[in-house]
Amino acid sequence: MNILFVGDIFGSAGRKIVREHIGHVRQSRHVDLLIMNVENAAGGFGVTPQIADDLFDLGADAMTTGNHVWDKRELMDYLKSVPADSHERARRILRPANMQPGLPGYGVYEGTIADGPNKGTPYAVVNLMGRVFMSGTNDPFNAATDLLAGIKAKVIVVDFHAEATSEKVAMGWHLDGRVTAVLGTHTHVPTADERLLPCGTAYQTDVGMSGPYDSVIGVEKDLVLQRFLTGLPAKFEAAKGNPKMCATLVVCDPATGRASSIERIMLGE
Ligand SMILES: [Fe+2]
Ligand SMILES: [Fe+2]
Repeated sequence: MNILFVGDIFGSAGRKIVREHIGHVRQSRHVDLLIMNVENAAGGFGVTPQIADDLFDLGADAMTTGNHVWDKRELMDYLKSVPADSHERARRILRPANMQPGLPGYGVYEGTIADGPNKGTPYAVVNLMGRVFMSGTNDPFNAATDLLAGIKAKVIVVDFHAEATSEKVAMGWHLDGRVTAVLGTHTHVPTADERLLPCGTAYQTDVGMSGPYDSVIGVEKDLVLQRFLTGLPAKFEAAKGNPKMCATLVVCDPATGRASSIERIMLGE
């Protein structure tokens, strides 16, 4: 069974390059499960229900987010609009599970594969966020263990949205043999360390941004440089140049959830 995870989609340039490539990649790679991180899909800051809808129309089964999840306030009401046992689109957009208690939304989605040879296979998507150099999150390691105790599916994909490579690598080892894949997001720079861990978990520190690479992690580079050079505040705008779609393909056994391969994909214009 083939799982494609698309890294942080950033602004209109990111949406456009994903729209351009996702169809042929889904087809040529026989993708059964498509997950997208959408925390920067709306101009770099959060995601709106409308933009999420457009991305769902491209075939996404579930979406993950991160620290930018609340940048567009309307998403709060949207996530609140569905109960925990729903399979509607609003329920398929996750926010990190280990945020402060009581916030809208869910950090886990459990569904079944809709079509193809693996139709009916149960899967789970888990969204967690790191604590190192990030704020507003609780211990992701024990949260992961608690969440896994409640998941019935064997195929489990974890988006670990975190800043520090050490925390991400540690999460890979923590979950090795317990989930299908631990894929990092948030740094917007793809890492070349994709591998199968010894107990059958596919791991990559960061899938990389799907967005404009002539930028500073998605933002117009001159604005960021000016801020570094002067220390003055600047309003950040999404860049447009040199868009690439970064995604990672994980192949696994649908019966056991054990991964058998992991491959990085980077496609430009
Ligand atoms: Fe991001
Ligand atoms: Fe982030």
